[in-house]
Amino acid sequence: MSQIPQVSVSFEVNTDRNDPEAIVQQRVLELPVPTPDQVPDGQVLVAISHSSINYKDALAAVAHPGVARKLPLVPGIDAAGTVVASKSTRWAIGTPVMISDESFGTTQDGGWRQLAWVPHDWLLPLPPGMTPAQACGLGTAGITAAWSIQALIEHRSLNREYPLLVTGASGGVGSLAIEILAKRLGQRVTAVTSKILQESRLLGLGAENVLLRADFEDNTTRSLLSMRWAGGIDTVGGTGLNTLVRSTADAGCVAACGMAGGTDLILSVYPFILRGVILYGIDCTRYSQPEKTVMWQRLASDWLPSQVLQETQTIGLDQVPDRVFALIENRHSGRCVVELPTI
Ligand SMILES: NC(=O)c1ccc[n+]([C@@H]2O[C@H](COP(=O)([O-])OP(=O)(O)OC[C@H]3O[C@@H](n4cnc5c(N)ncnc54)[C@H](OP(=O)(O)O)[C@@H]3O)[C@@H](O)[C@H]2O)c1
Repeated sequence: MSQIPQVSVSFEVNTDRNDPEAIVQQRVLELPVPTPDQVPDGQVLVAISHSSINYKDALAAVAHPGVARKLPLVPGIDAAGTVVASKSTRWAIGTPVMISDESFGTTQDGGWRQLAWVPHDWLLPLPPGMTPAQACGLGTAGITAAWSIQALIEHRSLNREYPLLVTGASGGVGSLAIEILAKRLGQRVTAVTSKILQESRLLGLGAENVLLRADFEDNTTRSLLSMRWAGGIDTVGGTGLNTLVRSTADAGCVAACGMAGGTDLILSVYPFILRGVILYGIDCTRYSQPEKTVMWQRLASDWLPSQVLQETQTIGLDQVPDRVFALIENRHSGRCVVELPTI
């Protein structure tokens, strides 16, 4: 193995996973980078120029056992850059690519490093006209918002009498979903957030109305609530998802993708058998590479959420720990790209 001095961020993890004060300390690693003769055929070496921070990365960074499947781990489920060595006929040196696989940043080291050998079927081409920074500005959040919207389209929940609802609106998936639905697809969208100071930003992204989470969530045990929504996208889970399902109108679809607000869901069958509501689970990793490629091309063109991209913050590896805690403590909004130093 050659010891290319590769900057990365890993975290010294306290053995007590429940003690947030003692969890992380950034350190710079010199990760070994195998030479081409040391890796099997089919591997491709990517010089990563950009990654990002998703909620899942923040959980990985604090060693959440459901996400960080090995320790130490270099987090970063998104990565984009250029092929610099290839043992695959499918990817030539110099090709701009994204890395997309569910093990990246969870069971295998992820994108908060400069160089990664990955199997060739983990790669996607960068959509035409899209830079690595933009690809990571959208990242897993963008593709999750897109698959959630696709579910609403397939279940005929657009252009209905009622508006759509998006929860966790200030976050990555929520903000991107609002802009695409409102500005690219012309839908009426109500945003639910815990952050009153985000109201004007969310209206600017195209939401017609912003509700505070405390005002939206219904803690009663009523099986059904008045119909208010054509359906929506829930990025939070818990009481917000429960309330959305109970207040969705006839035959509306709710795409559920997140769980920062809770994993339990207690519902009666009434929304499903009296209103025909569809609860559709989103797992962005279960799509094939050709399906992902098509969806990325849509995100880069008709569905391009240019406003969220413009607002996206770019940080260096040294700022990653602060941002991790901002996500864990819900003190952030929008998207954040991590720019790797050029190797
Ligand atoms: N299923 C999939 O394939 C998939 C893929 C990507 C992401 N996800 C999930 O989708 C969710 C959003 O991801 P993201 O990267 O967009 O995260 P994010 O940027 O951190 O956004 C999450 C948003 O949820 C709300 N929130 C955060 N902590 C909360 C808490 N404790 N209780 C209630 N609400 C809370 C906040 O919105 P407000 O303050 O505005 O309410 C926050 O901005 C995460 O749960 C993530 O794991 C799933």
